[in-house]
Amino acid sequence: MPSDRLADIELLPELGRHPRVDLGLIRSGLDPLRRLGDSLGITLYAKRDDTQPLAMGGNKTRQLEYYLGLGAEQGCDTVLITGAVQSNFVRSTTAAARRLGWHALVQLEDRVPKNDPVYAASGNVLLSQLLGAEIHRFPEGENEAGADANLDRLAEQCEQRGRKPYVIHLGMDSQPIGALGYVYAALETWRQFQDLGTMPDYVVIPSGSGLTHGGFLVGARAIGWDVPVHGICVRRAAELQSVRIATRAAEINAMLDNRATLTPQDILVDDTTLAPGYGRINDAVSSAIRRAARDEALLLDPVYSGRTMAGLISLVERGLIEPGASVAFIHTGGTPAIFAYQNDLVPEGSENGEVLPQGSVAV
Ligand SMILES: Cc1ncc(COP(=O)(O)O)c(C=O)c1O
Repeated sequence: MPSDRLADIELLPELGRHPRVDLGLIRSGLDPLRRLGDSLGITLYAKRDDTQPLAMGGNKTRQLEYYLGLGAEQGCDTVLITGAVQSNFVRSTTAAARRLGWHALVQLEDRVPKNDPVYAASGNVLLSQLLGAEIHRFPEGENEAGADANLDRLAEQCEQRGRKPYVIHLGMDSQPIGALGYVYAALETWRQFQDLGTMPDYVVIPSGSGLTHGGFLVGARAIGWDVPVHGICVRRAAELQSVRIATRAAEINAMLDNRATLTPQDILVDDTTLAPGYGRINDAVSSAIRRAARDEALLLDPVYSGRTMAGLISLVERGLIEPGASVAFIHTGGTPAIFAYQNDLVPEGSENGEVLPQGSVAV
């Protein structure tokens, strides 16, 4: 184990007791975003989990180290996962399976009402195909329990074929194992800020299944770091999401022998930039994606990281993050989805792409 990881784990020995496989994680960078921060009147940093090395990076590598650690302990040779058509989790799981020499069986749910051949075939779908996933379809988009039940049926068929499956469920009935990866990310981020000699006033992070948000929150509180952690809703309204995060955080804390002290005030979720819903772009998201690209050459996707940046900007605009504050934006990746949303980001014939007519001169 690298020495910096060992030092971080010493902060929370309960985490070190959980099985984990090595998927080539790096200590991702903590980059200052000076131009974007200045334009918002804050000091802004990005924790760059988009740069994790496994097959175009993202937050799921951290989660998969713990899921597949458990699977490896059980002697599994196949992993099953369900997700949206453009799911990063599906792509990262397939990649992780390949790294371990396992088979990956994935189920793609029609969660986003989109009739766009680029969305259906490019981005994460293309990568999962290249990585050799066995792809199944599930037509219902908002049926978490149904999607998990169908995955179990596929796992049974897998067993009948002589394989030993490990199923990653997303529903609330399952233990939030993957969140341990973000417990660790909180320790790592805390250490990086310590080394910089400063601490952020706020953390802003996406909140979907809640394992990233819940894991980071519990990790921070377990080491006595009381920074407010704002979760930006990417799938559910704030009312539902706050219950989900409270539940998940308690479960994650239990996996760590309740090292953290959590209060209801710790659960911060914001859905101001969620409409019209999961995976559907809006003006705030598309403007946040452009601002980050043009001010910082920072690439954000429409479903997660772009929506989270839009949420961060909205928190600043509404004064919930005050002028002059210092903010850590957790960039969880999602880069391949940018290509799948090409027709939303740069609609055909639009001037947004700055493609100038032939013969004109850019100034
Ligand atoms: C790029 C990216 N960011 C954030 C999230 C949200 O993470 P979580 O589901 O742990 O809340 C996801 C989930 O798929 C994701 O793919």
